[in-house]
Amino acid sequence: MPGGGVIPVTGTTDINRVEAPVTVKAYLIVAFAAFGGIFFGYDTGWMGGVLGMDYFINQYTGLEYPNVKFPGDTTSDAYKAYKKAFVVPQWEQSLTTSILSAGTFFGAIMAGDIADMIGRRMTIIMGCFIFTVGGILETASTGVGVMSAGRIIAGFGVGFISAIVILYMSEIAPKKVRGAVVAGYQFCITIGILLANCVVYATQHRRDTGSYRIPIAVQFAWALILGTGLAILPESPRYFVKKGKLDRAATSLASVRGCPVDSEYIQDELAEIIANHEYEMSILPETSYWGSWLQCFSGSISKPSSNLRRTILGILMQMMQQLTGINFIFYFGTVFFQQLGTISNPFLISLITTLVNVLSTPFSFVMVEKLGRRKILIWGAASMVCMQFIVGIIGATAGKASAHNPAAVKAMIAFICLNIVSFATTWGPAAWIVIGEIFPLTIRSRGVGLSTASNWFWNCIIAVITPYLVADQPHSAKLGSNVFFMWGGLCCISFLFAFFLVPETKGLSLEQVDKMLEETTPRTSSKWKPHETFAQTMNLAEKHIEVPVGTKTETV
Ligand code: BGC
Repeated sequence: MPGGGVIPVTGTTDINRVEAPVTVKAYLIVAFAAFGGIFFGYDTGWMGGVLGMDYFINQYTGLEYPNVKFPGDTTSDAYKAYKKAFVVPQWEQSLTTSILSAGTFFGAIMAGDIADMIGRRMTIIMGCFIFTVGGILETASTGVGVMSAGRIIAGFGVGFISAIVILYMSEIAPKKVRGAVVAGYQFCITIGILLANCVVYATQHRRDTGSYRIPIAVQFAWALILGTGLAILPESPRYFVKKGKLDRAATSLASVRGCPVDSEYIQDELAEIIANHEYEMSILPETSYWGSWLQCFSGSISKPSSNLRRTILGILMQMMQQLTGINFIFYFGTVFFQQLGTISNPFLISLITTLVNVLSTPFSFVMVEKLGRRKILIWGAASMVCMQFIVGIIGATAGKASAHNPAAVKAMIAFICLNIVSFATTWGPAAWIVIGEIFPLTIRSRGVGLSTASNWFWNCIIAVITPYLVADQPHSAKLGSNVFFMWGGLCCISFLFAFFLVPETKGLSLEQVDKMLEETTPRTSSKWKPHETFAQTMNLAEKHIEVPVGTKTETV
């Protein structure tokens, strides 16, 4: 509205009008935001490969290259013993790998606060900037000190990005496709992991700093693309409503939905978001900084709509996603397959597992919207229980009966791939979708941040403990393929968790999710239908809210 003015916003009583129609622009905006997943995947994907590069090992340890020390001799025992010892020391491997998760953990927790202070979009841009600073240190590093500093700073940036992209996408995506677009984020994670594997594979034999600097430096492209793109995209209208800047909320909603700011659709949707926020504030009024943190844990654990219950749900959801054991396959698959013997090219197997992950994820775009989040989480867990137990049983029977049994190994790889398909179409995307949907606006950014931090925390725990579970070394539990019984057992818990605690949020606006949680239990949630708007509940359907547009006025 050029020159400024006031639009009277009146809420609607029509539950079908709580969201403006979906336009191509809306799809494009959220599709672009999904790009943030590339960071997540790529950043977790390159370190393992770089740690195994000859040049990198030589630089970190000062040891001579095996083929220089033993020219023309690759079969003698002395060569083999030297090659075995030609590795980056265990503590340096552990430090450089896990320190990223420490950064992401704290980054994700802090990101929620910052997203409420400066906005979702600016927080992601800030994350790209911090990540770039960390990336510069990583690229410049020639030793463990600078590399670790770079990793923790880059991790901090990834923590910002991984939490706030989910928040931003969930807040601006149209409800009909919100699940599918957040699944698009998961798809980008899988592409990131695959790209990291490919780049590392291409540079692994170089005998110069390019071997590790190229894979690290490729990440600057992701930061540049995401940061520049978000500088152009609109801010989340829900953020402006939370800040009381209703004029800006109206303009940004109009931009996200591709409708004129004074159209009825925009008025109805905006009124619903405002009414919902007023409702939430009436239950838990704004308090001090620490008081508002405590609000994340307020209410009764037995009430599905309490903040405490939602926060626990988000944190456990991400914990159970990690405890499915998927990263055991992606982080330690190569070593595990090598231990089974008979595999001549472990890289190929690890490429196949990452490819299966990428190619099966798009099926989830349809599944999350057609079957719903709850159903696919329940069936996904059940399917992973079957696949993992089968792998464990083959390993404990045919695999054990004759060492290096190629048929048993092939069958295990096939079931591991089916397990990846089960994860990629269900728990992979759905865990992210659910945490973006279950929190009320008052605590949403912190809730998503805490849940994301839980993902990184468990990710780190798995990275640190699994080598000690499976490796055939003195101080390890030497579980070998029996580790799949452990993951299968944990998936049984995921199944029960999804069945008893996860509500169905498909097809509802974020505000309707709030109402559904108040009126149902997780097990009855799938049958819930919206019957009243928040504008009705708050009596805003009869009353005008004056929203100034095109001016600097920020009062209502
Ligand atoms: C998980 C990651 C995992 C990836 C695999 C994500 O949803 O959070 O830890 O590596 O899926 O595709």
